[in-house]
Amino acid sequence: MSKIVVAVDGPSASGKSTVARAVAQALDYRYVDSGALYRTVTWYALQQDRATNDAGRLAEWVHRLSFSLSTTDPGVVRVQIDDRLPDLADLRGDAVVEAVSDVAAVPEVRRVVGDVLRDMTRLGPLVVEGRDIGTVVFPKTPLKFFVDADPEERARRRSIETGGDVARVKASLQRRDQKDSSRHSAPLRCAADAIRVDTTGMTVEQVVDRILGCVATKLTNGL
Ligand code: CDP
Repeated sequence: MSKIVVAVDGPSASGKSTVARAVAQALDYRYVDSGALYRTVTWYALQQDRATNDAGRLAEWVHRLSFSLSTTDPGVVRVQIDDRLPDLADLRGDAVVEAVSDVAAVPEVRRVVGDVLRDMTRLGPLVVEGRDIGTVVFPKTPLKFFVDADPEERARRRSIETGGDVARVKASLQRRDQKDSSRHSAPLRCAADAIRVDTTGMTVEQVVDRILGCVATKLTNGL
């Protein structure tokens, strides 16, 4: 049972965080936000004045970091780097938002983060959200979902969440989507065996119920 992983992938502001968190709570599994881990690496690189567009140096630097799991909140796994845990507000700041896709495109960064995520299965069953959870990090899990929504809807949702003009938010999301989908290493895509959920026009409850229904069916059928 301890290796159960529900993978929830999708583009920015598709609603996957809200949905993944609610699914984890309903199942009493731990929730893991892999985007927050890429943001934490990016935040730490900025703190240390590292050039976030220098892939070669980042590749060498990331191996020197010490990652440790913080489960202060029993439902949510967070990750400290060199014993430092940033505020959630720092992770959502403009500097991190603009640099994170470059940092996340570095294959060595992805390898290190992937290992940190796989190590979390020792804590028990997980719901992990991200971009490549079903395709690369946990390709064998049969519980895979790809959550999407049309770009207008995603920009509207994110601007309600963070404030700011919808057009500006949409442009920033598109820049990141473009980088995330076109990168060489683990581009954002729906796994062939994932269940795709277009959440445009759906409520959070409807999406959560849909995912919980699929998980229950698979678990009842012995995966
Ligand atoms: O909340 P939002 O969907 O906007 O972003 P996030 O999930 O916090 O992810 C931030 C960034 O991290 C993404 O734009 C990707 O560049 C990167 N990321 C990734 O490459 N792979 C993942 N599994 C998760 C995030």
